[in-house]
Amino acid sequence: MSTEIYYFSGAGNSLHVARELQKRIPETRLIPIVSLLSKDIAKTNAETVGFVFPIHGMTLPVPVKKFIKKLEVSSAKYLFAIATRGGTIHNGFTIIDNILKKKGKGLDSYFSITVLSNDPKLEAWKCPTKEEVEEMGITIQTRVDGIQNIVQNNEVSRENDLDGVSISHNPFLNFMFEKIIHLAMKYLVEIKGVNNYFYADEKCIGCGTCEKVCLSKKIKLVGKKPVWQNNVKCYFCYACLNYCPRKAVQIKDKWYMKSHTQTKGRYPHPFATADEIAKQKMK
Ligand SMILES: Cc1cc2nc3c(=O)[nH]c(=O)nc-3n(C[C@H](O)[C@H](O)[C@H](O)COP(=O)(O)O)c2cc1C
Ligand code: SF4
Ligand code: SF4
Repeated sequence: MSTEIYYFSGAGNSLHVARELQKRIPETRLIPIVSLLSKDIAKTNAETVGFVFPIHGMTLPVPVKKFIKKLEVSSAKYLFAIATRGGTIHNGFTIIDNILKKKGKGLDSYFSITVLSNDPKLEAWKCPTKEEVEEMGITIQTRVDGIQNIVQNNEVSRENDLDGVSISHNPFLNFMFEKIIHLAMKYLVEIKGVNNYFYADEKCIGCGTCEKVCLSKKIKLVGKKPVWQNNVKCYFCYACLNYCPRKAVQIKDKWYMKSHTQTKGRYPHPFATADEIAKQKMK
């Protein structure tokens, strides 16, 4: 039985989970979502179809949602999703399930794996220690072992998310908050294009890594300096921020959020090189 896993990854966590699952399930193809975003139509021929992605702003990344909407899934007999996240609750699976229902399908199983966050703009964010990274590696192995059994046996596993950190104890308030965040992310990514958001400071050496890893091709090196082009959308993957070898990429302060990137380290992206992140763009 063939399996296809569609993945999106800005710092390698989701890529690592997707690869680990691929190793455990025979005849599994890994397909980067970014490589198919510019196509009008995308079609799977697999019987088992999975989506692996990070949580952005308590929901699924805008490009992942866009992709699942256009994916033709008539061959699929079993569909699952895995979210990697820093630790909050999210509405990603409900959104995917609703999209699939319109195609006469649904998510059979879904799983949230709490890993380490790649979002150093937050005041509470701490650069992970070697021990924390090792611990995350073990957590992923254990979770993927369990997921493999469920997926290979086509079992239904739709657990309530009891581990994720929520904003409130009131489920209705959480639901409303997720909705507002989801709309805000959509507005930022789709309408504003996340412009005027990043800059490179004086530590930049013009190495071009940010341009290489940029999943949406928003960054162009002009005169050895990165330029975030206003007419290209950003996917909020933070690859530019985390892969810059000089920690020169910064997020500007906004009226709605103070950025702490100047004083923080960066996520060490232990599972994927810059080349492996960049490869997602290849057709
Ligand atoms: C812009 C952005 C927003 C994020 N928002 C959340 C969030 O709301 N909740 C959460 O648990 N993790 C959040 N994270 C952390 C990521 O979901 C987590 O680190 C994920 O494993 C990254 O996967 P990747 O390396 O495959 O991109 C966010 C990360 C980024 C870059
Ligand atoms: S990755 Fe960093 S150092 Fe290299 S060009 Fe981009 S901002 Fe400059
Ligand atoms: S500009 Fe940065 S955050 Fe936006 S898509 Fe490119 S690498 Fe990702």
